[in-house]
Formats: sequence, C-alpha cells, structure tokens
Amino acid sequence: MQVKEKIRNILDDFQPEKGQIPLSLFIDQDIYDLELATVFRKSWLFLGFDSMISHAGDYFTTTMGEAPVIVTRDQNNQVRVFLNFCIHKGMRVCRATQGNSSFFRCPYHGWTFDNTGKLVGVPYFDPGYAGILEKDKLGLIQIPNIKVYKGTIWASLDEKPIPFEDFLGDMKLYLDLILDMFEGNLEVYGGIHRWLIPVNWKIPLENFAGDAYHAPFTHASTIPIGLRTGYPNNVRIIYPGNGHGIVSVPSGVSTRKVADIEGLRPYRERLEKAIEVLSQRYGEFVKNMFPFGPLNVFPNFSLHFTWNYLIFHIWHPRGPTQTEVHGGLLIFSDLPEETKRQVLKRSLHEFGPAGLLEQDDAEVWSRITESGIAVRRHSINPKLIYVRGLGMDKSAEEVLGKGAKGIVGEYFSEVSLRGFYSTLKKYLMGEAQ
Ligand code: FES
Ligand SMILES: [Fe+2]
Repeated sequence: MQVKEKIRNILDDFQPEKGQIPLSLFIDQDIYDLELATVFRKSWLFLGFDSMISHAGDYFTTTMGEAPVIVTRDQNNQVRVFLNFCIHKGMRVCRATQGNSSFFRCPYHGWTFDNTGKLVGVPYFDPGYAGILEKDKLGLIQIPNIKVYKGTIWASLDEKPIPFEDFLGDMKLYLDLILDMFEGNLEVYGGIHRWLIPVNWKIPLENFAGDAYHAPFTHASTIPIGLRTGYPNNVRIIYPGNGHGIVSVPSGVSTRKVADIEGLRPYRERLEKAIEVLSQRYGEFVKNMFPFGPLNVFPNFSLHFTWNYLIFHIWHPRGPTQTEVHGGLLIFSDLPEETKRQVLKRSLHEFGPAGLLEQDDAEVWSRITESGIAVRRHSINPKLIYVRGLGMDKSAEEVLGKGAKGIVGEYFSEVSLRGFYSTLKKYLMGEAQ
C-alpha cells in the first residue's frame, strides 16, 4: 500500500469528534513523520523559562519536535533561538544542556558563531576560503518567530505562524492565572530532569490534558500510604479550545489534610494569597478551581499544579514509540530556601523519573506501547474509545463560575481529549491555521 493511501485510511478511521482514535495513531511511523512535518513544524512550541537564561550569554539546549535548538540570551539581552546545527557540515554546534558563553564553536572544524548567530571565526580562512566564502553573510540558522510571554519562552518553526495569543485562545486565561501568580518571581528549582519513556508522545500528554479517570486505579497505592485521601469522582475537564486541556479538581489536588508537612506551609500560604488576588482580578471561578491539577498546552507542554508543588513536563517526540521527557519544578523565587527544598522533595517523591506516580504512569504507558506494537504486527487496528461525556458539555461559567472560559465536561469527561485530537487532525490534514 502506498504511504499516502495508508495515511488516508488511518485518517478516515480517526474520528475524534465521535470519540474514535485508531491504535495506529500511536504506533505508525508515517503518521509520526506527518506529525513532525505539520504539528511540530507549524504550531507554537514551549521551549523553557526566561529565568533559565537570566544573564547575557546564558543558554540551554532543547528540541522543537526532534529539531535540536539552542536558546540563548545574547549580549544585547535579546532571546534568540538557533538550530543546533552547524551550517558547514551539519554537526551539533553545542553539546552541553546549559551554560554561559559568548560564542559557540563547532567541535568538527572549529567554525565559531557568536551568540547573535553570526559566523565570526573560520580556521585557516586564508587562502582556502579567501575570496570564496562570504563569511560575513553566514550564521547559525535562526528561528525567527520567538515569543517571550510572562516568563515563558515559545517559538515556531513556521515562517508565518498564527499570532501567539490566537494560538493560546481561551487557554491564555488559565495560563495567565499561573504565570501572574508568580509576579515575576518564577524560578525553575532543582534543575531539569531528562528521561526516556517507550511511549508515543501523545499518550502522556493526554493523561495531563484530561485523563483524570485513570488516577483512582493507576495510582491506587497512593491512598494506603497516605499520599492521597482518595480521588473525587466529580473531576471536571475544561476544554478551552485549540487542542489545549485542563483537569480541574474541585478544591485542588492534595488538599490540606493530606500528609500536611509543616515545611510546605509557606508555599501553601502563598497559594492561598494568590487565590484571593487572582479571583479579584479574573473572577470568582478561581476559588472553584485553584490549584487546578494537570493541564496541557497544545501540543506537548504540561503542568501539574497541586497544593504541594507546581511541576512541568515537556513531552518531546523521539519516534512513534519513544518520548523524551524534560521535567522540573516551578517555585516562587523569594520563598525561603528550606521551603523550596521541601517542595522539591515532595514533588520528586511523586513525579520525575523516580517519582511514585510518574512510575505508575510510565509502567502503564510502556505496556500500552508493547501491546500496541504486537497487535499492529498482526495488522489489527482497533479503534480506541474516547466517548466519555460525549455531548454532555456545559459552559465553563455555568460549572465553575463567573469569568471562566471554554467548555467543561464533568465526571472525568474526555472532552479535552476529543478537542486535542480534533486539533491534531486539522494539522495532519493541512487544515490548521
Ligand atoms: S561541521 Fe561545523 S565546522 Fe565543520
Ligand atoms: Fe497518572
């Protein structure tokens, strides 16, 4: 079967608005390649936090989809994003994950680029290149569309992406609640963990964007050991549009009663204060949903916001059945060091490569991959079921209160998952933007 025909058949079976997703969407190499060429080529992608490059010369390396990039603050204080790719013969120019440097020297033949991207050094230029190579016109390949938004850094590989605010749509409100809470004091604390999970990138993020349904089962062991008192069954799922998704646990995840460690008190007091400030600014609904629980900004940037910590995950695609996770903790930079340490400890206990809940999830996701690959090898392509709460959506204002935006499905609805996949399908069909 031709690749085009195969993709067309998969997309025919892919009916997210009816809650129907074919298994091959999580396994197939050609679908994956199409995702890189569409979603990860056109969408805005989250790269990191402004505070990770607070001084001139600071940089970190990451990827946009699979494309390696360097994110740096140049000597003029401008945030720049370059492909981490030497224009000479394609070597990865920078192999560190972070650092501070005014230039990047390619390890292969020593071409040197300053941190505005300009090619400033070519070894043995004279006579081999003299009069031939127009050095002044050359430089690292820059990603032109960068957005620094309230302490977060985003970029798009597309020449003309939709305006960033349009991309966020109503998700802007919910992202603003978190980013405004920091009032410029957002710190990534404890470093960033990077690890691999043998799973398609969409499965972890759908877990954050709207699968609260799994928690009482996958994470059942958290109850007898006292990490959770139980899981409510009336978890709300907010769909703000454009493929984004939010899980909203009434009164927040990990309520005050649970394992109330004295060391977390200053952090929790800060959240309580933020609820007051933010509900005055944005509306009463804030009191009904803060801190929210997990959420995902399309396509692959997740946060998980509880009474005990606020963590982030970026789900970088690494093939149809492999995801590289970058994860860390966000905290108020002006909290006492001891509080930060306690919050970090608590977050790592639950999430991150050694976290209890993270391992529960990763175990399930790895087995999903194994069984999915095995089933597809026999040319069986089951349609997975995403119909929970179909047609039962209400307006967010009705459920959460004045000021809320988007639509809400109650009782573990999969409304945001249908929204995510509908958006994904638009990209795959070339209909996005
Ligand atoms: S590949 Fe970078 S200098 Fe040759
Ligand atoms: Fe989970």
